[in-house]
Amino acid sequence: MSQHSVKALTFNSMNHVEEYKKLYSESIKEPEKFWAEIAEKEIQWSKKWDKTFEWNYPDYKWFVGGKLNITQNCLDRHVEAGLGNKTALLYLNENYNRVAVSYGELLNQVNKFANGLKSLGVKRGDKVVLYMPLVIEQVVAMLACARIGGVHNVVFGGFSAQALRERIVDSGAKVVITGTWTLRRGVKKDLKGTVDEAIQGLDVVEHIIVLQRDAASALVEKEIDFYELLKDQNEFCVPEEMDAEDPLFVLYTSGSTGKPKGVVHTTGGYSLYTHYTTKKVFDIRENDIYWCTADPGWITGHSYVVYGPLSNGVTSVLVEGVPDFPTPDHWYKIIEEQKVSIFYTSPTAIRMLRKYGEQYCEKHDFSSLRVLGTVGEPINPEVWQWYRKHIGSGDRPVEDTWWQTETGGHMIVTLPGLPQKPGKAGKPFFGIDVDVVNKEGKSVSVNEKGFLVIKKPWPSALRTCLNDHERFKKYWNEIKGVYFTGDFAIKDEDGDIQVLGRSDDVISVSGHRLGSAEIENALLTHPAVSEAAVIGKPDEIRGEKIKTFVVLKPGHAPGDDLVNDIKRHIKREIASMVVPDEIEFAQGLPKTRSGKIMRRVLKARELKQDEGDLSVLDT
Ligand code: PRX
Repeated sequence: MSQHSVKALTFNSMNHVEEYKKLYSESIKEPEKFWAEIAEKEIQWSKKWDKTFEWNYPDYKWFVGGKLNITQNCLDRHVEAGLGNKTALLYLNENYNRVAVSYGELLNQVNKFANGLKSLGVKRGDKVVLYMPLVIEQVVAMLACARIGGVHNVVFGGFSAQALRERIVDSGAKVVITGTWTLRRGVKKDLKGTVDEAIQGLDVVEHIIVLQRDAASALVEKEIDFYELLKDQNEFCVPEEMDAEDPLFVLYTSGSTGKPKGVVHTTGGYSLYTHYTTKKVFDIRENDIYWCTADPGWITGHSYVVYGPLSNGVTSVLVEGVPDFPTPDHWYKIIEEQKVSIFYTSPTAIRMLRKYGEQYCEKHDFSSLRVLGTVGEPINPEVWQWYRKHIGSGDRPVEDTWWQTETGGHMIVTLPGLPQKPGKAGKPFFGIDVDVVNKEGKSVSVNEKGFLVIKKPWPSALRTCLNDHERFKKYWNEIKGVYFTGDFAIKDEDGDIQVLGRSDDVISVSGHRLGSAEIENALLTHPAVSEAAVIGKPDEIRGEKIKTFVVLKPGHAPGDDLVNDIKRHIKREIASMVVPDEIEFAQGLPKTRSGKIMRRVLKARELKQDEGDLSVLDT
């Protein structure tokens, strides 16, 4: 075995199943004690909490009365500990441009930008929308919001003007921060133009901060240049003392209804949980070069590109662009040249790399890698094996991590040192009480399929859905008393959990959650469409692809032109990643007698599977 063998990795002294079991069972027996001890040890608080946990079902609070600012944990404390010159972020793109910023420089930029935001009137509790490329400035903007108590709402740069507008309106953002473009396969993809379209006629937006990536050009009313705003600001910004339960950010995600929900995360529990899971799941060490390939527009980017790694003082790589451009081994080159030691990505990306073949892996030296991770969807066992063999030199641990936007951090994981089971997410993280149950909430037997639930609130659990607390309550009421994840799972005799996928109408394309209803709503705004149903179909690379069934209004005829027009419409309404791969024109859709579209029947027919119980079908 090489020096990087699984054995070399330790979870404290917890590199054996028995030790995991012992610590896990202690953490479940007394979660408050467990989290309080870690919170004290790992996180800097300006005032200690009075009460660790409060649960007025379904609402809960952690570290009640505690005060902190997450940016102090991510920046100041490292600089104070003498790590000011350590590289915090290492940015690369498809042209191999490289920009490094140290913890000291990052703190300085965050302070100045925070003062800039203050000068525009942004105050504690104000919402700020970010629609930015994956660049260091995006991290600066997120942290600057947090520094002054502003609540960021990052919108992924692939979303359309319409989707962006909805999120700006729903969150009531006063300020939008954007960049002129983002780089994708050699093409500058316009972001600023999308913002212009999104905010047309919106009075709520008072300022637009623009990161101008080419020579600065004239900006119009309400617009301010990113660096102009930062330029003459004071180099220190007193961190706003936040309550542990004050919101840190809002992030929209798809659900089974038509409208995306604004998941709200708070400061204290989220700081602690993302810090601790990053540290333990990835076995963080002082000289690690850590690369999580996610975009901060998704939760993985928030927790494991920005907050978790910075809180641990690690050096993180940020890469703007796609895995296979300009060459199929673009990412491999980065791993080799930057000596990446922790690599965390999605099954979709791995499947894409695998498709190009291992000959590209063989050209590169991956000996710097110590830990591999995966997130976003179930990983196929053969893809897991390929990942470990060809990227992980055959013996590096592959940490599968199951979690959600709502959970804030890893819930079910393969911890380093514990047995690796390809295709199984692993065991619950410390303090996380999970179960697999039937509709009535009763545990199902070992190796039987059921609903994955979490039995008690954990520190980084969502606290509400913005402007819609009822929707939050649904998570805890779907099956009374427990958090309903929406996933099907199976638990084996060792307690390892295999996540099977969604039990609701959520589709996962390249690990991104898309609600069928959201896409159907957009389809219905097309002038020719009278009814629509959307299902996910298996896809070799992206996990699932989108198929839609469309019933046309009288006077409209099926045809290629209409197919293309509907595709363009969806791209305009939501995002290009949502554009259906297949559009089938139908005479009618299977519905229940109460008129609900039976997507599961459409799916079963499409996949030539058993259609199941059809007793409620309106025939
Ligand atoms: O279905 C599960 C799947 O992704 C959903 C959460 O999506 P989102 O909120 O966008 O967050 C993705 C990144 C954390 C889950 O309900 N999922 C996520 N990770 C895994 C997974 N399914 C299986 N295995 C995973 N490791």
